Amino acid sequence: MPIPVILDCDPGHDDVFAIWLAAANPAIDLRAVTTVGGNGLLEHTTLNARVALTVAGVDGVPVARGAAGPLAGSLHPAEDIHGANALGGPVLPEPTVPLDERDAQTLMRDVIQASEAPVTIVATGPLTNIGLLVRDHPDLIPGIARVIWMGGSTTRGNATPYAEFNALTDPEAIALVLDSRVDFTMVGLNITHQALVTREVRERIGRIGTRTAAFGSELLEFFCSTYEVAQGMPDGPLHDPITVAMLIDPAVATTVRSHLDIEVDGTHTRGATRVDLIDALGAEPNATIAMDLDTDRFWTLVEEAVAALA
Ligand code: BDR
Ligand code: CA
Repeated sequence: MPIPVILDCDPGHDDVFAIWLAAANPAIDLRAVTTVGGNGLLEHTTLNARVALTVAGVDGVPVARGAAGPLAGSLHPAEDIHGANALGGPVLPEPTVPLDERDAQTLMRDVIQASEAPVTIVATGPLTNIGLLVRDHPDLIPGIARVIWMGGSTTRGNATPYAEFNALTDPEAIALVLDSRVDFTMVGLNITHQALVTREVRERIGRIGTRTAAFGSELLEFFCSTYEVAQGMPDGPLHDPITVAMLIDPAVATTVRSHLDIEVDGTHTRGATRVDLIDALGAEPNATIAMDLDTDRFWTLVEEAVAALA
């Protein structure tokens, strides 16, 4: 049976590929897309989610707007990577996919309550919406099979030396999700920096020939050019779709069980994910940590999805 999935995202170039992979692969039953302020303001990330589905010719997946900003502090969009509208590069078509009149919390609740099986939440942005869901609707937690989140790192950060962007944006939300004891997987920079958009990858996607591939090629060109300037990485890392790929084919990534917590204070380390890979704490593992990527399997899944869409 396909896995029922809610995709919570902040598109964002790499989020778009996560949406496409979830929409195209038959192992996934994409029941909802919810948006959060992150890479861009909520108005942009919400529009961009609708654009991503429209370009790919995907109808019938409700899209709902979630939190505009983090639980504490204010939002600092990643304009240096994603541009002023969070989806720099291509001209964006007017979306034909409508905005659901429910907010993200209500849509997630409805999907979870209506599902015959527990629902997997894939999160590819700040965890604000998911933190609010488990805080305000604890009755729904048994209906959540797992949360698989792109964010954090076992090693370096990218927004600060120790903090990854999604983690830094809303550490308090991560704490709420970890405290809820929902089954949690972290897909951090330590693995996503293995998903490099090399010239060969761009050429292969460019040759696919679908409308989705053409739009995706423009996204990747922009993304790699900003990553080169902002992070010194001309082959930008396509972080977010690894989450979906791991659901489709667990062999895409190796994982370990470990104790994970999040730094919400810290003089220099707010937003750092502390992953106890050496078991120094002797604490019960509370998370699955993605470690190493099978890049060939990963890109094959992404390319198949882009080829299968409009
Ligand atoms: C994460 O931050 C965003 O810029 C990307 O979409 C990804 O989710 C990487 O740090
Ligand atoms: Ca994202």
